[in-house]
This record gives sequence, C-alpha cells and structure tokens, in this order.
Amino acid sequence: MSKALPQPSALVTRRHQPIMVTEVLRCLRPQPGELAVDCTLGGGGHACALLDALQPGGRLLGLDVDRFELPRTEAALRALGFGPECVNVRHASFAELPAVLAAAGIAQADIVLADLGVSAMQFDNPERGFSYKGVGPLDMRMDPSRGESAAALLQRTSAPELAGFLSKNADEPHANVIAELLKQKPLSTTHAAERQVRMGLNRAIPALSKSDVKRSLRRTFQALRIAVNDEFAALDALLLALPTCLAPDGRVAILTFHSGEDRRVKKAFQQGFRAGVYAAVAARVIRPTKAETFANRRAASAKLRWAVRARA
Ligand SMILES: C[S@@+](CC[C@H](N)C(=O)[O-])C[C@H]1O[C@@H](n2cnc3c(N)ncnc32)[C@H](O)[C@@H]1O
Repeated sequence: MSKALPQPSALVTRRHQPIMVTEVLRCLRPQPGELAVDCTLGGGGHACALLDALQPGGRLLGLDVDRFELPRTEAALRALGFGPECVNVRHASFAELPAVLAAAGIAQADIVLADLGVSAMQFDNPERGFSYKGVGPLDMRMDPSRGESAAALLQRTSAPELAGFLSKNADEPHANVIAELLKQKPLSTTHAAERQVRMGLNRAIPALSKSDVKRSLRRTFQALRIAVNDEFAALDALLLALPTCLAPDGRVAILTFHSGEDRRVKKAFQQGFRAGVYAAVAARVIRPTKAETFANRRAASAKLRWAVRARA
C-alpha cells in the first residue's frame, strides 16, 4: 500500500458516513499486524479507519451481501492505496462467517465488526426500494440477485403472517390493521405501499396524528426489510458463530439500530460472559454523542455493544 495512509473522511464523505467510529475503535483496539473482519463493509468507512490502525502488517477481510456496492467499495479502497496485501472483500453474508473464514484460510480473527442494517447508498437509491421517500420498485433486497422482493413477499404472505412480521420486526402497535391494508391489493412500488398504509391508517384509526402515521410507516418499511432479508436469522447465526471465529483476546463490536437487534446482541454477549466464552462484555450500551447525532441523523438510533473473547 502507499506510504501516506488514507484518511477515512476521504472515503466516507463520498458515500456513507460511518457511525461512532471513535467509539468502535475504542472497543476494538486494533493493533498493527492484526487481522480484522468487517462483516458489513458498506461504503468502507469503518474498514478504512480499522485498516489505518492495523498498519503496518495488518489485514482486513470485508464482507457484504450487496453485489452492486461491494465492487465500488473495493475500488474506492484500492484507490486510497489499500492493496490486496491488506484488504480483501467477499460477496457473502456474515451468517456464513465460519465458512468464509475457512475459505480464506483464516483460522480466527483478532477483530470482528458488524454495523447492521442498510447503508446510505442503499437507502437513498430509489431503485433499491428501501424508502418511501423516493419512487421505486418495492424491492428492499440487500442482494437483489437473490431471494424475493418485498412486493413478492407481500403477495405470498397471509395477513396474519404479515402482522407477525410487523410486531416482531418493528414492535408496530397497529400490526393487524396494516397487515390487512397491505393485503388489499397488489403493491409494486414504494409510493403505492406508502399511500396504501398512510391513507388506510387515517381511515381506520382517525385519532392517529400525522406523526403517529409517519412512525407506523417507518416501522412498516423496517419490518418488511427485515423480513425480506431474513435479518434476524443472519444475526442469530453470526452471534452463535462468533466465539469460534474470534481468537483468544479477540474483540467484537456490533452496532445495532433497533430494539430487536440490540436485544439479541445483549443476550448473546451476556450468556457468553456467564458461560466463560467472553472474558468481558459491555456493561452498558454505548450511544453516539449529541454532536454526532446532530451532524448525522442516521446515528440517532445507534447502539454499540462489545465483547472480548476469553483465552482458551
Ligand atoms: C450500515 S451499512 C455498513 C456501513 C459501513 N460500516 C461503512 O462504514 O460504510 C450495512 C451494510 O451491511 C450489509 N449487510 C447487511 N446484512 C448483511 C449480512 N447478513 N451479511 C453481509 N453484509 C450485510 C448491507 O448490504 C450494508 O452494505
């Protein structure tokens, strides 16, 4: 790699603003020569900060399920001077972490990072269908080359199943009403789904304020995205595999963005600590500073937890 180390900001301002970078580095304590796995490479902002601290001699393996963004991020990292001797990327889910490590000839990692959810490049691209703020197909797949779109999921799923997704994935209080609305007619675009839920809720529960409806809409889109990408199953698989993937004294940090994710991470780390798998875990959740939340509204719901693998 080039002698002058690239600054994370060179990468992040172009694409996705990484969240709680200082706090993540404080938890992970990257040292020169160590091996890190970024399970959710995204725009490469966290990876870039980690790579910087891992030099000289350190390596990072970056995973992402997004077949379209991954090569762009790889190219951006290369353009910043990070060559294949220090960074490699894989189109893979972190649910398959043990197999990915084995295929890469890695026994265990010193550092594992997962920054859950979607990136700004995904969320802000109307073609990906994650947000009702732009008009696009109701897709929501992080890997559009696999699985079924949100529109197809809505067609296939019964109203009671949909209500289950809405409550389990997003704690939506009006899950039954919204599920019925989503089943009333085929919905193929983000705007059609938004309009159907917004107008239907206004009719069915007139007491709801505009901001109540907005919150329900946000939760509806979140619940559908989680279902389309089977996000909880992937997170559960990662949490189960982590102890075998981390070297003794290895550190893991996970950034979550809603209660369903945070509950899982908290429980897995605490159980691991009680079982002696982890030598230490975050006693309390770490939140972004007010300044960060002010500068980047996407940081507002972020929660960071960490654990340290016990020595064998
Ligand atoms: C919040 S972004 C990560 C941003 C990144 N930390 C950065 O600094 O740019 C989350 C990324 O994780 C990816 N992702 C989500 N679930 C995944 C999974 N199960 N396996 C691998 N990548 C996943 C998404 O495609 C997205 O690119």
